[in-house]
Amino acid sequence: MCVRKGESRSMTVSQVPLFLPVAELLTSRSLSPFLGSGEGLSFQTFLLDEEKGHLLLGSRDHIFLLEAGIPCCTGAVTRSSECANFIRVLHNYNSTHVYVCGTGAFQPLCAFLEVGGRGEEAVFHLHTNTVESGRMKCPYDPWQPFASVLTDHHLYSGTASDFLGKDTAFTRSLGQRDRSYIRTDVSKDYWIDEAKFVAAHAIGDTYNPDDDKVYFFFREASRDGSAGDKSVLSRVARVCQNDVGGLRSLTNKWSTFLKARLVCSIPGPDGVDTHFDELQDIFLLPTRDERNPVVYGVFTTTSSIFKGSAVCVYHMADIRAVFNGPYAHKEGLEHRWVEYEGRVPYPRPGTCPSRTYDPRIKTTKDFSDEVISFIKDHPMMYRAVYPVAREPVFTRINVDYRLTQIVVDRVPAVDGQYAVMFLGTDVGTVLKVVSITQENWATEQLLLEELQVFQAPSPILSMEISSKQHQLYIGSRDGLVQVSLHRCQAYGRACADCCLARDPYCAWDGHSCSRYIPASKRRARRQDVKHGDPSGQCWDVEDNMDSTQAEERILFGVESNSTFLECVATSRQAQVRWFLQRSGSERREEVRHQYTKKHKPLDYGRKPERLVKTHSNTGRTHWVFYLLGD
Ligand SMILES: *[C@@H]1O[C@H](CO)[C@@H](O)[C@H](O)[C@H]1NC(C)=O
Ligand SMILES: *[C@@H]1O[C@H](CO)[C@@H](O)[C@H](O)[C@H]1NC(C)=O
Repeated sequence: MCVRKGESRSMTVSQVPLFLPVAELLTSRSLSPFLGSGEGLSFQTFLLDEEKGHLLLGSRDHIFLLEAGIPCCTGAVTRSSECANFIRVLHNYNSTHVYVCGTGAFQPLCAFLEVGGRGEEAVFHLHTNTVESGRMKCPYDPWQPFASVLTDHHLYSGTASDFLGKDTAFTRSLGQRDRSYIRTDVSKDYWIDEAKFVAAHAIGDTYNPDDDKVYFFFREASRDGSAGDKSVLSRVARVCQNDVGGLRSLTNKWSTFLKARLVCSIPGPDGVDTHFDELQDIFLLPTRDERNPVVYGVFTTTSSIFKGSAVCVYHMADIRAVFNGPYAHKEGLEHRWVEYEGRVPYPRPGTCPSRTYDPRIKTTKDFSDEVISFIKDHPMMYRAVYPVAREPVFTRINVDYRLTQIVVDRVPAVDGQYAVMFLGTDVGTVLKVVSITQENWATEQLLLEELQVFQAPSPILSMEISSKQHQLYIGSRDGLVQVSLHRCQAYGRACADCCLARDPYCAWDGHSCSRYIPASKRRARRQDVKHGDPSGQCWDVEDNMDSTQAEERILFGVESNSTFLECVATSRQAQVRWFLQRSGSERREEVRHQYTKKHKPLDYGRKPERLVKTHSNTGRTHWVFYLLGD
């Protein structure tokens, strides 16, 4: 990777976001903390059940059940011994039972938890007679990155197999019948090396259930070539759900495992791309076609001099195209990956066995030795997966924090649908961002809000969105909070303030800035997410505002005296600019920024002044500074 300081491209992050500190979020009742201080409880694992209206929370020594509409919670203690037990796995197993795993005292354990009913009738019981070893299902280390998914009564986990976290593997366990325990091959140089698993999802590939796969996302050490030093790269990998392992060298190992590089980069000034190589989180935004969710990834840089984070978006079609493309080949350990140009055995390695396609290949045990030995050495695809438009939808560069988590909500607005991203940081804040594509295909990244959801600047560990309840659940080492997806009133009371905010959740309803509900039969809602142009939306309501809303003020200046020019607008969505308009002149002169720096007084003359806030047709709020006549 080649990065140098200051190499960042200027991105169009417009607007000053609304910064809301904890205190303000609490008073506006937009934020509710759960469980008191929750210090050290480490809320890392969530299981939200929208249908049943509850949220299960896995933390240190406890599993909590929060029911929608009921202020607090039911708790089950999972303390296993002297040492703490950190819950890392919580998945629905069937309609009555949840599968739970914890780190134990560096001795992972799993069990069934029965959850049902509501309120007084709630059943919440950990079946201690079902406790079994969690080795290869759950990490030993509470802080080790980890990913798992439970589908069709099988648990798929990406984790370390040992205490030191050196041997990392992607495994399947828990199932009965023919699909027993299976894992990735131990060959580090070809398969998986010091992986940090980020996410795992079951996704069907075609109409044929035999093609159902589990896709998983991770970052790993990569030693490409003889240089010897390892770098970190991000990967997407997949296995067939009906893989029962191969024969001989891949007995009880995946025989359909393939992986590819996930790229997220921005072009540098000298033609060398700046890469965000460390995948931190993945979110799948569902679409109407369940086989094609939109994949959102949060990445950070590995470089210590160039600190940055980015969000890249991928289409499943592009991921599949890479897995259907050429394989990578390595002549030996000291060689680089090159394109494999030899003969590819039949059936194409990575294909799921299916009677529908070939009656002779019913299971992966029917794969020929040739297929098995090919996949053992060629699990890597030659081409990388690139994001949509080949660039991130959001970047944060040269800021003193990093992005750690992402959830995305699809929000209907007056001028179309928007994907609103909620990005957790390592300093206890959440950024609310929308990426807008204009008519000329240029994209604009709009940072709408910056929410300080935790007083202590500790990393956000987990986030879960409830579209049904319009809430975001956020966990960190020391607490769990629930925060509303929108705070429309905070943008201000005027139509123009609401319009300028460009928040797809909010519209001006004739009285105030409030939540936009598309189906509502209320009279015309004023909103302009695409351009944020109040002159088009609020031209007929401007006059109705009272003078305090219009921010009209009169300042008096005295000869040879100075006055402080305020730089922070009350609505905070506005950009503050000062203009001087001398009496008898139509011309407005902008007061230069260096003079309006905080605490620097400006001597502006001898006449009384009048200060008026107006909205220009560029969609920005201007402060106009008039010099009144004698
Ligand atoms: C769910 O699974 C548990 C554990 O195997 C089992 O005891 C229970 O009967 C199952 N419930 C249903 C409704 O199938
Ligand atoms: C001069 O400016 C200061 C600061 O703005 C103000 O407090 C003071 O009243 C002014 N003096 C007169 C005589 O107006």
